[in-house]
Amino acid sequence: MPTDPQKLSIPNIAEVLPASGGLPAVRVTTKNAAGTIYLHGGHVTSWTPVGNKDVLWCSQKSNYEAEKPIRGGVPICFPWFGKKADDPTGPPHGYARLMPWELESINHQDGEVTVTVALKNNDAGKKWWPHDFIIRHRVTFGRELAMQLEVTNTGHHPFTFQEAQHTYFAVGDVRKVRVSGLAGVNYRSDIDGSLAKPRPGDILITAETDRIYLDTQAPVVLEDPSLNRRITMNKLNSKNTVIWNPWIAKAKNMPDFGDDEWPEMICMETCNVAEFGPKILPNQTHIMATRLRVDPL
Ligand code: BG6
Repeated sequence: MPTDPQKLSIPNIAEVLPASGGLPAVRVTTKNAAGTIYLHGGHVTSWTPVGNKDVLWCSQKSNYEAEKPIRGGVPICFPWFGKKADDPTGPPHGYARLMPWELESINHQDGEVTVTVALKNNDAGKKWWPHDFIIRHRVTFGRELAMQLEVTNTGHHPFTFQEAQHTYFAVGDVRKVRVSGLAGVNYRSDIDGSLAKPRPGDILITAETDRIYLDTQAPVVLEDPSLNRRITMNKLNSKNTVIWNPWIAKAKNMPDFGDDEWPEMICMETCNVAEFGPKILPNQTHIMATRLRVDPL
């Protein structure tokens, strides 16, 4: 029997409560940071280190409902990314973000709170993907945000999967930000599927941008002069980085994304996608992680 999530609350530090749409979430408040993780999707929606505005962005139009993804924060894409390769009717970015995860533990130490949530494959999931797994998201809210995604093969056969921590960052104006760390890296553009020539220099967002950077584990740095901050995203065991902003037309076509919200966000995604999806044997665990830090410019 899963533990009653309320029993894991730490008074005034990490409270389990009904959040938007009545979905259960853990709300963390310490001397170093505030943050929120929903059990729905194992989804972090907020991280505000002391003295900063929220580092993560969520749409005003987001759904907060069973079986629908939350638009913003850190959706977990698993066990596939984008369209399901062998079945176009499969939910985009997999089904982990559509399901309720179980709250396993909450630990508090020295102003840092680690919340661990987990999802096991179940009958609803096996309709789409037959493999036995448990996926855990272990999230530490502190001066830094550390998010570790652990996929364990609990079945008898090897399997290959794709995964992403699809982080939406709040920015003052996406047209003014600079993203560094990906200069010279090959990328595939998801807009036309083409493999584009690597470009030198920082990335500037001047149009719809949807790129999978290939075979790069490098840290990515987002400089935002409007909010006067630099966000550093370190990755572990992630061979791809996706950079996404929908720009004007695509924003208008997404019902859960405000028409005028596109300048306020950029996605920089820690992931293993396409042919980079990891393969794990029975009893093996694959760990991928993201660590975020904020500094003034
Ligand atoms: C990005 C993809 O990771 O997620 C884009 O590269 C996609 O192609 C975007 O549009 C948002 O996806 P969704 O399913 O959350 O609307």
